[in-house]
Amino acid sequence: MTAVAENSTSAAETKAGEIPSFDVTLRIRRLDPDRSDEPFWEEFTVTAHATDRVLDAMHKVKWEVDGSLTFRRSCAHGICGSDAMRINGRNRLACKTLLKDLDPSKPIVIEPIKGLPVLKDLVVDMEPFFASYREVMPFLITGGNAPTAERRQSPEERARYDDTTKCILCAACTSSCPVFWTDGQYFGPAAIVNAHRFIFDSRDEGAAQRLEILNDKEGVWRCRTTFNCSEACPRGIEVTKAIQEVKRAMITRAF
Ligand code: SF4
Ligand code: FES
Repeated sequence: MTAVAENSTSAAETKAGEIPSFDVTLRIRRLDPDRSDEPFWEEFTVTAHATDRVLDAMHKVKWEVDGSLTFRRSCAHGICGSDAMRINGRNRLACKTLLKDLDPSKPIVIEPIKGLPVLKDLVVDMEPFFASYREVMPFLITGGNAPTAERRQSPEERARYDDTTKCILCAACTSSCPVFWTDGQYFGPAAIVNAHRFIFDSRDEGAAQRLEILNDKEGVWRCRTTFNCSEACPRGIEVTKAIQEVKRAMITRAF
């Protein structure tokens, strides 16, 4: 089925100073469990501008063509991590993906991220993802009495885990991992990234516990170093490197 939004203005009609507009087709994989268990594809053609992102085009569809189109988004600026989806076969944030970078002369294919149950259209059930995240205890663990002054840390100690503090829990890495697709029990890259953030924090005392948890048969050893996760991460985190560092800490007990 194809739906088209009105108000299309060709680039030739653009006045001086205006941002050129063009028509773009979104080919979206949809699921409406109230009607059928079978997913289906639907195309929408909308007018967009050179500065628009995929999220802007999706908003246009939702607000002007079909209000039933369902997807998550919140901040629209790459911070909340809620709009990860498969765009032209790659996991990306819709709010950080410019249409002009995708060759908008061809339909842009949008699907839900893989490996998690689809609830409706592009919305997946994130609970299995967050269950793994919670299991690695992503919080500072300390013993004894609370200190009377701040817990001090040198710039070098802070740098040790700086990269993994950038995670926004979008699941782009975990849902791009072939091991996760075939075995939903695998903790997945995001949980390991968030364990790394605390394992290498000099103020934390829970590293041994976390390493024990990740030494499980569904833990870090399932990683096959395919680098999909690093390529998918919209924050540029070196996910595979973090996983390797956790593996090394497990063997050397140096953290
Ligand atoms: S590591 Fe990157 S891709 Fe994975 S959840 Fe965090 S921000 Fe998203
Ligand atoms: S909507 Fe928040 S990261 Fe895209």
